[in-house]
Amino acid sequence: MRRFLAILLAATLTLAVANEIEIFSWWAGDEGPALEALIEVFEARYPGVTVDNATVTGGAGVVARAVLRTRMLGGDPPDSFQVHAGDSIIQTWVVAGRMEDLTFLFEEEGWFDVFPQDLIELISTADGVWSVPVNIHRSNVMWYVPANLEGWGIEAPETWDAFLEMCPAIQAEGVTPLALGEAWTQLHLWESVALGMLGPDRYTQLFTGELPFNDPAAVAVWERFGEVLDCTNADAAGLSWQQATDMVVDGEAAFNIMGDWAAGYMATTLELEPGVGFGWAASPDTAGSFMLLSDSFGLPVGAPDRDNAINWLRVAGSLEGQDAFNPLKGSISARLDSDMSLYNAYLQSAASDFASDRQVGSLAHGAVGSDPFRDNFYLALDIFLDTGNAQAAANAAFAVAQQYGIGR
Ligand code: GAL
Repeated sequence: MRRFLAILLAATLTLAVANEIEIFSWWAGDEGPALEALIEVFEARYPGVTVDNATVTGGAGVVARAVLRTRMLGGDPPDSFQVHAGDSIIQTWVVAGRMEDLTFLFEEEGWFDVFPQDLIELISTADGVWSVPVNIHRSNVMWYVPANLEGWGIEAPETWDAFLEMCPAIQAEGVTPLALGEAWTQLHLWESVALGMLGPDRYTQLFTGELPFNDPAAVAVWERFGEVLDCTNADAAGLSWQQATDMVVDGEAAFNIMGDWAAGYMATTLELEPGVGFGWAASPDTAGSFMLLSDSFGLPVGAPDRDNAINWLRVAGSLEGQDAFNPLKGSISARLDSDMSLYNAYLQSAASDFASDRQVGSLAHGAVGSDPFRDNFYLALDIFLDTGNAQAAANAAFAVAQQYGIGR
């Protein structure tokens, strides 16, 4: 009996002193190295804390966001979770009263002076500041392998007209002109086509309701999207974004349009040298525009290890944390004071574009358009893939926009 009591006491004490944190994200597998580097910074600063790096695989968080929703609604929030800055966090978790206001942390850490004002606006409402941005990613990038293009006698197209013109000749070489992956990567391509066709002002107006999704200009986006799809691989639906990138790296495809986590994958995982092993350009017709998204971490109401979560956020927003994370991730720092000598040639060019370009928000990655809007926008995409009918897709997009409050 005494032995039993001793064991019970030991177990209770262990529970009482368990010092841990669960960090939830979709950065699994080869998306993981940057997050692991950030966690190392945390572990060095807070050595007594056990980190549970809880990941749910699936590009763009398509699976992780569903798992998170179940957990949040079931009263089982992680201590901190990855969430896109912008409408995604605000319209999903902030309006539902599920996040803690982090204004105090921004004040304590001096972050109001080091993050760009526009980015702070993306994570704020009149009532507070709701997450800590760890990076700025660019959505509208076209990737290629310079030596392959040279071999095929082509250059990265600056316009969709130029791309469509070179498409048949590339196909004639037995090469896919544009590598494409699963559904969310198709939405990712759509937003690049939309930005190219509409330009930054009218692209942005789609999400304020000033340009209806069934406007003739928006119908034309679908038409162009269809022409571009004709230059992609038939097995797209079954490929992850990494597999689509691999097609370019392996010379099976000429180009791919993907966010600059592809630069992270090619430089960090595949160890290719930026500018040599892979090249980049703004996606066609979008030079001068930087379609951004930002990964951030927040503090859910009811986080079981709140103090550790706050310290995690301190690290996520710190200079040391950002300069450990971003060079591996393929993103630029969300801070204005980062040490650019730590960043590779691609990232230096992204930083300079970010400073000079017109900034617009990504739909596929939560900066503009709420999660329910985006999730239902896939209806329009499906209709288009099934029927090829641009007007029908535009009508569906318009209906979804109305249903989810765009333009109201
Ligand atoms: C984005 C995310 C990036 C990257 C990408 C692919 O939504 O912001 O950091 O993880 O998905 O999974």
